[in-house]
Amino acid sequence: MVTAPTKTDIEYAAFELPSFSIDAIRATKRTTPSIGPLDVLVRMKAASLNYRDIIVALGVYNPGIPLPRIPLSDGAGEVVEVGSSVTRFKVGDRVSPNFMTEWLAGKINATVKASDLGGTIDGVLREYAVFNEKSLVRIPEHLSYEEAATLPCAALTAWNGLVENGRLRAGETVLVMGTGGVSIFAMQLALLHGAEVIATTSSDEKMKRLKKMGAAHVINYKNTPDWEKEVVKYTCGRGVDHVVEIGGAGTLAKSAVSVKLGGHISLIGVLADAKQKSNFEISLLMKAVKLQGVFVGSVEMYERMNAAISLHKMKPVIDKTFKANQIIEALKYQQSGAHFGKIVITI
Ligand SMILES: NC(=O)c1ccc[n+]([C@@H]2O[C@H](COP(=O)([O-])OP(=O)(O)OC[C@H]3O[C@@H](n4cnc5c(N)ncnc54)[C@H](OP(=O)(O)O)[C@@H]3O)[C@@H](O)[C@H]2O)c1
Repeated sequence: MVTAPTKTDIEYAAFELPSFSIDAIRATKRTTPSIGPLDVLVRMKAASLNYRDIIVALGVYNPGIPLPRIPLSDGAGEVVEVGSSVTRFKVGDRVSPNFMTEWLAGKINATVKASDLGGTIDGVLREYAVFNEKSLVRIPEHLSYEEAATLPCAALTAWNGLVENGRLRAGETVLVMGTGGVSIFAMQLALLHGAEVIATTSSDEKMKRLKKMGAAHVINYKNTPDWEKEVVKYTCGRGVDHVVEIGGAGTLAKSAVSVKLGGHISLIGVLADAKQKSNFEISLLMKAVKLQGVFVGSVEMYERMNAAISLHKMKPVIDKTFKANQIIEALKYQQSGAHFGKIVITI
């Protein structure tokens, strides 16, 4: 059998984290490896940032990751070569790798957890990357590379929490916190399912945007420190069906008050400081709440989410786009919390 020549040994531009500091990220050169029979060579076109990318760069997410490491988990690109046994994709297809390249379906386990892009393994802030065909999904046709690059972590986490685990249904009420990537996707996906959204934010300007996007009620959590009481009022004393919890210890007690009897909390993030004391364990217990830890999602979930996004022509909310060589500036902008939705990098 004659084997087609492969595009190996292409020298390409990438960025790497040589030590744990955002300022240390630098440009570098890498070379494409030869691709195996089930591999796909992708020309990365865009990436997006998550809060995780900041804590990876600071050495807080996983101080044990080998350095130098190519950062960022989320990207989208074009297939430029396929291995001899690849059946799912062809040259020219538009694709995106799953956050955990080995998590194809079923439940998360230790093996698949250790395949996180831009963490345990090299990420997507580079011109070329090789993936097993099983790690890739087709991106929705109505989305640009920039828009599709926002989906792998933030959108899929929101989808997993609300839809896969939460079994979200029309007519239910969802509480989302702040206007970061996960929360804005959670709001969009909740609205797409016919649910009502109550949102919190720290800024009056962002309150207006949340309202415009379709939030039924918006609360400024800075001006209204007891915002959970407002949430209970807005639901006529009943509480919300789902909470998309991105605050952690600093907001969990308030989520426990906000949620209804038998409701569901997706435990996703830890952005808020824990200063206030409360008896939240009792609230959770007495309300027989389901508290569900969420860690992004599988390739199968990614495909199910993309089907919904495609059908409803849902568009991610992009706050700002940077060039790859502005990665340090972009991460610092994310760190400032000034953004609304997602920050994108073109490659
Ligand atoms: N479990 C998982 O698989 C998974 C996946 C993705 C993300 N996460 C975690 O989820 C969290 C959010 O990630 P992200 O990428 O969406 O972050 P992000 O885009 O950086 O979100 C930042 C926004 O969060 C809001 N925020 C901060 N503190 C808050 C508080 N005390 N109460 C309410 N909102 C607050 C602020 O919104 P306003 O400016 O509107 O106040 C801020 O602008 C992080 O902890 C991240 O590590 C977990």
